[in-house]
Amino acid sequence: PEFWAVIPAAGVGARMRADRPKQYLRLGERTVLEHTLDCFLGHPTLKGLVLCLAEDDPYWPGLACASDPRIERAAGGCERADSVLNGLLHLLTLGAHENDWVLVHDAARPNLARDDLNLLLGELAEDPVGGLLAVPARDTLKRVGKDGRVRETIDRSVIWQAYTPQMFRLGQLHRSLADALVSHASITDEASALEWAGHAPRLVEGRADNLKITRPEDLEWLRQRWAARAG
Ligand code: CTP
Ligand code: MG
Repeated sequence: PEFWAVIPAAGVGARMRADRPKQYLRLGERTVLEHTLDCFLGHPTLKGLVLCLAEDDPYWPGLACASDPRIERAAGGCERADSVLNGLLHLLTLGAHENDWVLVHDAARPNLARDDLNLLLGELAEDPVGGLLAVPARDTLKRVGKDGRVRETIDRSVIWQAYTPQMFRLGQLHRSLADALVSHASITDEASALEWAGHAPRLVEGRADNLKITRPEDLEWLRQRWAARAG
């Protein structure tokens, strides 16, 4: 199906402890953000892409793709959900329809495979709600007390990690996100906004290496993969 993309890239990357936000760190020849944008920009059924950037972002203008006319810009917000909401509002000004599919994807997730993107689009094309790429939990999981001691081992078979892209209808996502934010619900991804509104997003199993760069070792791991591919 045809779809719009919203890429939230307005975070500061506090957990990376780098000299700049992680989307502007190098991965091979280019920045993390450029690789992320590439996953979408060449896609044949992409209708348009909105990039959410911090208002005072000094790094974006220096990138080669900053003048790419296919990239629409929206302002970032305090939390990821605020940035995404701004992106959705911008889509509405571009003439996107309530019923159009929107894929939201973290700027800090540069290793999305085209096959995974197509899998998500294909699996959810006829879905009444939408859903997301996700990965089944691999490790044994523990519930822990404040004292750092294990209370119990959780049934791993029903636990998945939520990845992106997350794919929903523009109108439904916009309403759910706006309502959840007004109610101060804890919203860390698009699916949680839909869940808050009473919907049940579908999980589509994706590749585990579509990881979000959160800590320094995540980027180190990706750099090694990139170097191995290049060599
Ligand atoms: N993001 C955003 N606007 C915010 C916060 C986050 O657009 N106010 C984006 C980030 O740029 C990132 C994605 O949402 O691409 C996932 O968020 P996260 O991994 O938490 O990134 P940061 O918030 O930058 O990192 P940290 O939480 O460590 O500060
Ligand atoms: Mg964050």
